[in-house]
Amino acid sequence: MPSPSGIDMQATSLTKTRYDRIAPVYDLIDFCCEWVAFKRWRKRVWDQAEGIKILEVGVGTGKNMPYYPKKAQIIGIDISDKMLTRARKRAVRLGTEVTLLPMDAQALEFSEASFDCVVATFVFCSVPDPVLGLQEVRRVCRPGGRIILLEHMRPENELFGRLADLFNPIFVRLWGANLNRRTLENVHQAGLEIERVETLVPSGLVKLIVARPIMRSS
Ligand SMILES: C[S@@+](CC[C@H](N)C(=O)[O-])C[C@H]1O[C@@H](n2cnc3c(N)ncnc32)[C@H](O)[C@@H]1O
Repeated sequence: MPSPSGIDMQATSLTKTRYDRIAPVYDLIDFCCEWVAFKRWRKRVWDQAEGIKILEVGVGTGKNMPYYPKKAQIIGIDISDKMLTRARKRAVRLGTEVTLLPMDAQALEFSEASFDCVVATFVFCSVPDPVLGLQEVRRVCRPGGRIILLEHMRPENELFGRLADLFNPIFVRLWGANLNRRTLENVHQAGLEIERVETLVPSGLVKLIVARPIMRSS
């Protein structure tokens, strides 16, 4: 049921419950992918981060922390308290300076143009209304700032795309993430200007997207 702000509170609370539930095993489940590819991709994402004030949306258990730029002031937000608890432990273990806050990506509690750069990795597959979340990202990123997204999405191959549609309801219940989001379209819809897209897995299954907020002429 959408709230006056357009947020589907029921879907949002369900997403939070799902990530709270998998938080204890999240790192374990992802272990192989992390070693085979994710670590490399995370480094690639953060090597492109710019500016001092950086927001990480959907920080999860803090897997990006080893790659944070040293001189940046980073704020990480997530809807799941249990994922954040693990992120806090990781920050202490790694000696990472980061402010971690419980927050919904669909209603960011920051004023306009608060950040030089916004980063999200594997997040907009689970945010209930990805366009609303991406509009919020656009709002809090300063004009000319950079937005970097690493996302898996619906395969471009029609057969694989249909399979993703078929298995999506099961996957989303178990894991909280959708297999068939049309993330590039969502990024356009949210008013972001795409600067560059790198396809990291054949059929466009995983993409690294670098974008900027579209400058509005007054
Ligand atoms: C697949 S995990 C990715 C975590 C981390 N970014 C990583 O790369 O390992 C998705 C994360 O997005 C968070 N998330 C989902 N919906 C959200 C929302 N509406 N607002 C903030 N965080 C959200 C989940 O709680 C979870 O931590």
